[in-house]
Amino acid sequence: MKIAITGHKRGIGQEFYKQLGVMGHQLVGISRSDGENIMRTMHTASLIEPCDMLINNATSMYAQTELLFEIWHRWQSSEDTHHIWNISTAVCGWDVDREIEGLTMRESMQYRNRKTSLELAHKQLQAQPSKIKMKLIRPKSVKTQEFINSPDSVTAEEYVRAVLKDHYAETLE
Ligand SMILES: NC(=O)c1ccc[n+]([C@@H]2O[C@H](COP(=O)([O-])OP(=O)(O)OC[C@H]3O[C@@H](n4cnc5c(N)ncnc54)[C@H](OP(=O)(O)O)[C@@H]3O)[C@@H](O)[C@H]2O)c1
Repeated sequence: MKIAITGHKRGIGQEFYKQLGVMGHQLVGISRSDGENIMRTMHTASLIEPCDMLINNATSMYAQTELLFEIWHRWQSSEDTHHIWNISTAVCGWDVDREIEGLTMRESMQYRNRKTSLELAHKQLQAQPSKIKMKLIRPKSVKTQEFINSPDSVTAEEYVRAVLKDHYAETLE
């Protein structure tokens, strides 16, 4: 399978890139350190369109949501089955806003707002007729550069191994 992964240079995305590579998949990595940027929605979507699957992992303002809408509509009319895994956050399960460790209250609310927008887009598109299979993944606390680690954090390697164990068979075989 040909799989595009945004944010494949560090953290969770890098682990998807490593572990799916070992499994023999053909990978397209999209990160700023390789000269790409998910904020350029149309260009990024053109890199992803020839793939069978997107791991929509990198986050930057509302670009993750914009990219989901764009790629979903490009794949919607295809005869082939495509897959999209949207990497959200456990913070979307909270009833009220609170400070995320390492972020101010304002930054915490903005982060939850962006991810809630991603989750709403996921839900809206899921309700539309298509052959696209989508999964919403909500990491809790994973030891990466983006987040201050809490005592119950797991490594990105452990986290991605568990995600692939839960979802790999039904999606990728
Ligand atoms: N770590 C956690 O505890 C945790 C918890 C809940 C949810 N999440 C979610 O999991 C995802 C990955 O988080 P992470 O902790 O693995 O992050 P990370 O370690 O900071 O890695 C982010 C990756 O995204 C790339 N990136 C950032 N901005 C980009 C842009 N505009 N265009 C293209 N690539 C970009 C970075 O590479 P470049 O710098 O080269 O672009 C890097 O490869 C995020 O959606 C995050 O919200 C993480």
